[in-house]
Amino acid sequence: MNDNETPSLLRNWLSLLGIPLAALGFVIGVGLIVLDILAPFHSPYLGIFTYLVVPVILSSGLLLILVGVLRERRRRVRTGTVSLPRLPVINLNHPRHMSTLVIVVVVSFLFFTLSGIGSYRAYHFSESVTFCGVTCHGVMKPEYTAFQNSPHANVTCTKCHIGPGADWFVKAKINGLYQVYSVMFNKYHRPIEAPVQSLRPAQETCHTCHWPDKFFGSIERVRTHHSADETNTPWTVRMLVKVGGGTSTGEHEGGSHWHVRAGNKVEYIAADKKRQVIPWVRLTDASGKVTVFRTQDAATALTEEQIAAATVRTMDCIDCHNRPTHHFNSPARSLDLALADGRIDASMPYIYRNALALLDAPYTTEPEALQAIAKGLGAQYPGGGPQVEQAIATVQDIFAKNIFPEMKVSWRAYPDHIGHFEAPGCARCHDGEHVSEAGEPITSTCTSCHTILSQGAGPSSQAPSPTGLAFEHPGDMSELNEMIGCYTCHGGSNE
Ligand code: HEC
Ligand code: HEC
Ligand code: HEC
Ligand code: HEC
Ligand code: HEC
Ligand code: HEC
Repeated sequence: MNDNETPSLLRNWLSLLGIPLAALGFVIGVGLIVLDILAPFHSPYLGIFTYLVVPVILSSGLLLILVGVLRERRRRVRTGTVSLPRLPVINLNHPRHMSTLVIVVVVSFLFFTLSGIGSYRAYHFSESVTFCGVTCHGVMKPEYTAFQNSPHANVTCTKCHIGPGADWFVKAKINGLYQVYSVMFNKYHRPIEAPVQSLRPAQETCHTCHWPDKFFGSIERVRTHHSADETNTPWTVRMLVKVGGGTSTGEHEGGSHWHVRAGNKVEYIAADKKRQVIPWVRLTDASGKVTVFRTQDAATALTEEQIAAATVRTMDCIDCHNRPTHHFNSPARSLDLALADGRIDASMPYIYRNALALLDAPYTTEPEALQAIAKGLGAQYPGGGPQVEQAIATVQDIFAKNIFPEMKVSWRAYPDHIGHFEAPGCARCHDGEHVSEAGEPITSTCTSCHTILSQGAGPSSQAPSPTGLAFEHPGDMSELNEMIGCYTCHGGSNE
């Protein structure tokens, strides 16, 4: 066969377009992968470009070349310009054939090795926090921001949202495609709906790092609150929160993790989508005894038909830790922390009340809020100075980390189930209103869950009590001392 008679099949406009495109993608891709491996810095956009944009350029180039060659071949066969054998004939004695073969082998080797490295890194990138948190920047900003400031900042999103195993990996990628679609066509909810219905069971995610047998004892929590008065008077509760649970064979240890202890099963029916109202609870204990607790509140009690038709959910970690990493703190909680650790100078008169009002006002965008905070505090403390500047910067930072008007995200959209101070949380069941057929209520005794060590005005005013104290509500409000429903008044924006 004479080479001069058969001009290359690449000589067609599609392939000629594809060659520079593929070459460009290849060269940039190799350069960027090397840069990504060696670079001392990690830019999120570098990853997105290297592992999302460049492969698209490279593969469209290759596709164009291939389609061009096939079309050209068909054209030549159809028009009878050249009679082509079914497969290319390679003659190793022919110098041009030999050099082409060497080039093809070397280039293919390079291409497959590099695309191997590239796909491996691309897989890791698609599992990375950057990919989940930054690619759809506007949508994920609230969750990504909260995550970065959480105890799980070093745990990747996929550890909780996908977990191990190929089946969930595939599910997640399919789900991911839908998410890309809903972002592109603006079809997503603001805020993103929670609880996440498709969340993988906690046993398969959280348990890879924390498991119920290993919870025991109590942890100390110090909560300093501030009044809306001129001196921002602090009031501190120091308590031991019982987090034990123990194993079914070990000694019985009452504490929050008792619910998820091996052998115990707590199931419930929620009357609302957010699982805030729980009229029906079923406990199966380690001995197999079943007890059903039903709310006494006529407004939320369920009929037998409703119970039969409802979805029964088994309680797991997420039913208490629904915000293990995406904490959106309320203005009151954020300010309490900032005043307690000196990020805001507590000697500024009425600073708690004033900052609270500015954080809680309705805004439609973040820049608008940040401006209003600067303007508001600037006007309320006209003297200025570093103290006021720091207060403004801290209040703006609180806003930026916890409230996201563009996505309608705040502590109100995602109430935290731990406790009963700002949201119903534990009191969804432990309110004394959920009673078994035998007349036993689910416990609402304060000391089942925690022991108060000290309480009162000042940062942490008293010496700890060895036996524990009964709660005393500040001010002249002793009627509240035994009320678990704190959230009915302390909603996070109240004083
Ligand atoms: C420690 C585990 C954990 C990690 C790490 C984690 N999440 Fe979540 N995330 C959760 C849980 C649990 C929920 C479900 C809350 C619910 O159902 O009420 C959730 C909910 C969400 C939601 C739904 C909206 C909401 O706030 O409830 C989004 C979006 C989200 N996560 C994105 C991310 C992104 C992006 C990352 C990484 C930057 C990430 N998550 C890392 C545990 C985690
Ligand atoms: C990859 C491991 C890993 C996974 C998965 C994981 N965690 Fe954690 N978790 C940690 C680490 C590490 C800490 C921080 C410990 C510390 O700083 O004391 C932590 C801390 C916590 C804390 C204490 C937070 C605090 O304020 O002190 C809670 C509660 C928690 N995790 C719940 C969960 C829940 C619920 C899930 C599942 C949705 C989960 N974790 C999944 C590793 C993990
Ligand atoms: C879905 C309903 C439900 C929710 C929500 C709930 N619990 Fe429980 N809890 C139960 C039931 C049922 C029992 C067993 C009956 C009892 O001991 O009164 C129980 C028992 C307990 C016990 C006693 C264990 C023992 O035997 O000593 C503690 C402690 C406890 N819960 C803490 C909490 C805390 C803390 C929260 C919130 C973070 C919470 N619970 C949320 C249903 C719930
Ligand atoms: C009934 C509610 C409830 C359930 C269910 C629950 N927890 Fe907790 N957990 C708590 C409470 C309450 C605390 C104390 C939180 C505090 O005071 O900040 C806690 C604390 C923790 C801590 C911190 C402990 C420490 O010593 O610092 C971790 C980690 C944790 N839980 C993980 C889990 C995991 C994982 C699961 C699922 C197996 C789970 N929890 C199920 C209520 C619960
Ligand atoms: C079912 C368990 C449970 C019961 C019953 C319970 N609590 Fe709590 N309580 C909690 C948990 C969990 C927290 C959150 C601890 C934390 O802030 O980390 C909490 C927090 C508190 C706080 C601190 C709030 C803050 O942020 O300063 C006070 C005070 C308190 N409880 C008082 C009471 C009183 C009074 C009762 C009885 C009328 C009671 N609790 C009954 C679980 C319970
Ligand atoms: C009926 C409404 C109501 C309920 C229920 C209630 N509080 Fe209060 N609480 C108030 C009011 C009003 C103040 C402000 C009192 C003042 O400044 O003199 C206050 C003040 C406080 C303060 C002092 C710091 C501050 O924010 O001003 C703490 C701490 C507190 N409450 C804790 C609790 C706890 C814990 C519970 C539940 C066990 C609870 N409260 C239940 C209305 C309530």
